[in-house]
Amino acid sequence: MAKIGKDIQYAVEALQKGKLVAIPTETVYGLAANALSEEAILKIYKTKNRPKFDPLIAHIGTLSQIEKLTTTVPPLAKKLISDFWPGPLTLLLEKTEKIPDLLTSGLPQVAIRMPDHDITRTLLTQLPFPLAAPSANPFGYISPTTAQHVQDQLGDKIDYILDGGTTSIGLESTIVSVEGDKIMVHRLGGLSIEKLQSYGEVEMSLNVSGNPRTPGQLKSHYAPQKKLIIGDIDTLLAEHQSMKIGVLSFTKSYPLAESNYILSKKGDLDESARNLFHALRVMDKMDLDLIITEVFPNRELGVAINDRLRRASGR
Ligand code: TXA
Ligand code: MG
Repeated sequence: MAKIGKDIQYAVEALQKGKLVAIPTETVYGLAANALSEEAILKIYKTKNRPKFDPLIAHIGTLSQIEKLTTTVPPLAKKLISDFWPGPLTLLLEKTEKIPDLLTSGLPQVAIRMPDHDITRTLLTQLPFPLAAPSANPFGYISPTTAQHVQDQLGDKIDYILDGGTTSIGLESTIVSVEGDKIMVHRLGGLSIEKLQSYGEVEMSLNVSGNPRTPGQLKSHYAPQKKLIIGDIDTLLAEHQSMKIGVLSFTKSYPLAESNYILSKKGDLDESARNLFHALRVMDKMDLDLIITEVFPNRELGVAINDRLRRASGR
């Protein structure tokens, strides 16, 4: 099992030796390694069982660290950086030659973000290199939002998990690129589309599979092992009476279900986002035949919640 702790110095030393360390962010926990070392990056792919065509995000702690990664930051990207970093926004920017092709899966752009989490930003400022960090889960499974989630699935493969508590947003970052005055969204996430809209025209670039810009946007992803279906919960419960059903609902309770996880009794989408992955993990571990959920309001973080639920159901 991995050690779980708050020892930043220990994490610094492990990362400098080329080891992997799980790190907290405001979105989800990441599985981090030196983003400029091919050998360290390889360990990430191997540990996650992730195909090498799915590139990794480079994490930085201060703005000056961006210089190692890219030489071109277009004006619109600069604006987004100044208003949303640190935060749940990842930008695709032209990569420099310092960056191993393995990090970007051979793509010309590198994904960069500055996470909004004190422990991890302190860690990043003490390192001479940025950190490559995908979500700290086996490829295709639900992202971790607590140190224990990481322990449950990768604990026997890594030696240290830096504990930063439960992540405050609970959904992965929103990934965008800019083209002139346009913002292209490649992955919906913890920064809502509404917040981006005042910066320019926002265009979706979210092909569900075979999208060469963001290969991670596979149709089935972020998925529990159990079958999950989305629809009108009462109707679905009636249709599956003989089964042990877990219901994942927004605000309402469903006493007829074997188990019911309500994401936000008061109807708060941020709270729902925060609880979503934990709830899916809890239900995935229970003795259930099926998980039923519903379509969330299609605004703010509800848009990304619906995206994750659709992918979780896509098999
Ligand atoms: O919130 C997050 O973004 C978390 C935390 C740990 O920072 N990280 C995360 O990483 O979700 P990951 O690897 O699970 O998802 C990153 C996504 C992948 O779908 C990948 O395809 C896309 O980012 N991506 C990474 N680099 C890219 C690049 N150069 N071009 C296009 N897409 C890229
Ligand atoms: Mg992931």
